[in-house]
Amino acid sequence: MPKLNKVHKGEENWSPASWKTKLAAQQPQYSDRKRLTRTVEKLANLPPLVTSWEIESLKTQLAEAAQGKQFLLQGGDCSESFEDCKSPIIAIKLKILLQMSLVLIHGAQKQVIRMGRFAGQFAKPRSKDHETRNDVSLPSYRGDLINSLPFTEEDREPNPELLLRGYEKAALTLNFVRSLSDGGFADLHHPEYWELGFVKEFPKAAQYQERVRTLSESLSFFETLAGKVVGKIRRMDFYTSHEGLHLQYEQAQTRFIERVGKWFNLTTHFPWIGNRTRQIDGAHVEYFRGLSNPIGIKIGSSLEPDELVALLEALNPQNEPGRITLIHRFGDTEIEKYLPSLIRSVQQAGQIVLWACDPMHGNTELAASGYKTRNFKRILSEVDQSFDIHEGLGSRLGGLHVELTGENVTECVGGARGLTEDDLGIDYRTQVDPRLNYEQALEIALLVAGRLEKSRG
Ligand code: PEP
Ligand code: CO
Repeated sequence: MPKLNKVHKGEENWSPASWKTKLAAQQPQYSDRKRLTRTVEKLANLPPLVTSWEIESLKTQLAEAAQGKQFLLQGGDCSESFEDCKSPIIAIKLKILLQMSLVLIHGAQKQVIRMGRFAGQFAKPRSKDHETRNDVSLPSYRGDLINSLPFTEEDREPNPELLLRGYEKAALTLNFVRSLSDGGFADLHHPEYWELGFVKEFPKAAQYQERVRTLSESLSFFETLAGKVVGKIRRMDFYTSHEGLHLQYEQAQTRFIERVGKWFNLTTHFPWIGNRTRQIDGAHVEYFRGLSNPIGIKIGSSLEPDELVALLEALNPQNEPGRITLIHRFGDTEIEKYLPSLIRSVQQAGQIVLWACDPMHGNTELAASGYKTRNFKRILSEVDQSFDIHEGLGSRLGGLHVELTGENVTECVGGARGLTEDDLGIDYRTQVDPRLNYEQALEIALLVAGRLEKSRG
């Protein structure tokens, strides 16, 4: 067993299992605890998915983003499904993230950190523990890591075995992501490798193509000047992230790295605490406070400014740059009311954070047809308002967090093509929250690029 040979300020009395002394919200109830324990032991003996070097390099980049030198793009499914662990689906997710990042690089003229909500985004918090249909009540679906979606007793029973299946799927996904990003697929000299077929039909295609064309031209100009091909641009880094929700799963791969003298969660580069599990005295905050990974905290309207300062003191007592990304998600009608006081309290406390906007989770609606949806206009409005509010207070929006897919699904209404509620049934696939489709994702990137361009002056 690795030993904790150095205790840092704020890490006294912490261990990867110390969260067990606190109340853990949103955990599944397993009927066979012994089987759970055996499975978690197996999980702990598997090799990790990421390394402390990668995690540290991400933290350095996030610290730069907090200073306005880089921009964070975090996106992917609300909830990955095991079924979608397939080559075309993974490749398409990388493609859309790559395209969005190019648009952002062009607008911001700075590096973009590409972070997927993938390779482990399998566990979901739910508002109710049970779902009832026609007088039958079963455990809610909590993501493929925990149980399965069909409404049968067998499917909804939390199954420890799925923790192993999820870890394997995460490993397969990451393996493919790594090969693609290393192997020329992401080569900036060849945007056609990752251009999706339907870019040509996108009503705003000209704007996208113009930005990519100028980027390619600057690249050739630079190469002509330097007299050589810019090799590094043949590969692009992708980082992974997921909500660190299921604490047994997260704990299993939490390791002490002698080289650094710190603890890391090695299932992902960037775990985040969800809006429903960020209680200051809760198990999630206890677990996260001992990690050295950069972490995200989702924050919504129920968070008081004093509580936020206390959370930051607990999770980042040394005020280390790059450690905390605050991902705010209020909704387009609420952001103006709640965000300013949170920004001021962080400024007054002198805490260094990276601010990112999640314009999805405060803008979820139920369409008359019963589909859970989001209106693209409200999503864009929340992003726009975020830029204004930060700028007005001398703060900075340094990241965008979105639920998206590179496919042409019909889950969010609006966008350049004007999807209506009646269109939702055409190709609605998400198992949990509605995602931006390919065109909507590019369109939001164009909006953010425009805002970043403007703030450059
Ligand atoms: C999510 O990101 O899918 C999610 C549940 O978000 P939040 O914690 O912000 O509600
Ligand atoms: Co979601």
